[in-house]
Amino acid sequence: MGWLSWEKFRCNVDCTHDPANCISEHLFLETADRMVEDGFQDAGYEYVIIDDCWLAKERNGDGKLQPDPDRFPAGMPAFARYLHDRDLKFGIYGDIGTKTCGGYPGMAEHLKRDAQTYADWGVDYLKVDGCYADTDTYSETYPELGAALNATGRSIVYSCSWPAYLPDPVQTGFQIPYRALRKHCNLWRNWLDIQSDWASLKSIIIFWAEASLHSKGFTDVAGPGAFNDPDMLIIGNEGITDDQAKLQMGAWAIFAAPLIMGNDVRNLTETQRAILLNRDVIAIDQDPAGRQGSLVKCVGSCEEGQVWKRQLHNGDLVVGIFNLKNSASRELCVSWDELEMGADSVYKTFEPYQKCGETVPLPGSCCPIGFSCLPHPDEGILKCSENANATFAFAPSS
Ligand code: GLA
Ligand code: GLA
Repeated sequence: MGWLSWEKFRCNVDCTHDPANCISEHLFLETADRMVEDGFQDAGYEYVIIDDCWLAKERNGDGKLQPDPDRFPAGMPAFARYLHDRDLKFGIYGDIGTKTCGGYPGMAEHLKRDAQTYADWGVDYLKVDGCYADTDTYSETYPELGAALNATGRSIVYSCSWPAYLPDPVQTGFQIPYRALRKHCNLWRNWLDIQSDWASLKSIIIFWAEASLHSKGFTDVAGPGAFNDPDMLIIGNEGITDDQAKLQMGAWAIFAAPLIMGNDVRNLTETQRAILLNRDVIAIDQDPAGRQGSLVKCVGSCEEGQVWKRQLHNGDLVVGIFNLKNSASRELCVSWDELEMGADSVYKTFEPYQKCGETVPLPGSCCPIGFSCLPHPDEGILKCSENANATFAFAPSS
């Protein structure tokens, strides 16, 4: 869990005209402070990650990577100390090819040297992009860098963009090398970059359903230390409603996805903050068993309605019901059979932002949620009657 600069701040290097928002020390120090002061760290968000465009245009005289001297005058070890003094962790971005996607120096031909530089700086998390490289070489270079990171002796979370640049497994049937990803990386971006709008968010949720159906190994690969990554949380940005934000948070929790905010933590509404800080949803996301949720079924098509389940370490089952139709009213039903739950199961509805039901015995085989379920018009998620949006139902094991 953490925060990453890309989604909101991109490659804004214009500190002359936009000093508050350019990719510079200032932005990351302010963000770190807000993460501590506004409760994000307490909720589990701990990695402060610098994305692209932090580098100087050239390596230094010794061939080492160096930050842009005007924008990061104190240097990376000082920034790492600032974070570590506050019990935060330091993440940074590099690229496996000759250049980063933004055109800054890449790590190709320098993997060992750069791994050591990052370790020396006190880096705890490294996002490694795949621009300016032949994708056929990934199966060698990504593992090589992983081994070089391990050889430094420093524990560094290794985020690989490897599968994001391979052929789309849903469109083409390409077999993603999940076993290799699991072996060599801690998390990996599976698909397209998220953008701060509902169309993009929805397309990723649809991809997740389609990949569950058609990409062998996609669901089972996830577990402690190895996770599929649907990309950043866009909650807090313009482009989605609060209810769509709740859907993203809920879906990411069912997906066992990394929770990496891509927003401006200095500028959030109370509601956005509450969505991001919801302890119940975070607990599902961070469940120690680390199992990725599996798709129970699509209703209509996967672009309309989806039902998911995720088993937690204590045997509880979380059921996620996503209505992706923005303005159509529809009933989404799932039976105990479809959930592979005994007919004597009990459940409680669970609306992460406002509890909406007590534990109740099962009703019939359809609509086990027990409410008549109506989606809220103009929003992406299911709303139950009684004014509560039941994105989840819990089926406790006991
Ligand atoms: C790629 C990545 C993004 C971001 C940019 C930076 O598009 O997928 O997440 O890191 O590069 O240039
Ligand atoms: C092997 C090792 C891991 C790690 C990766 C890096 O799988 O067991 O610890 O070093 O290689 O690719």
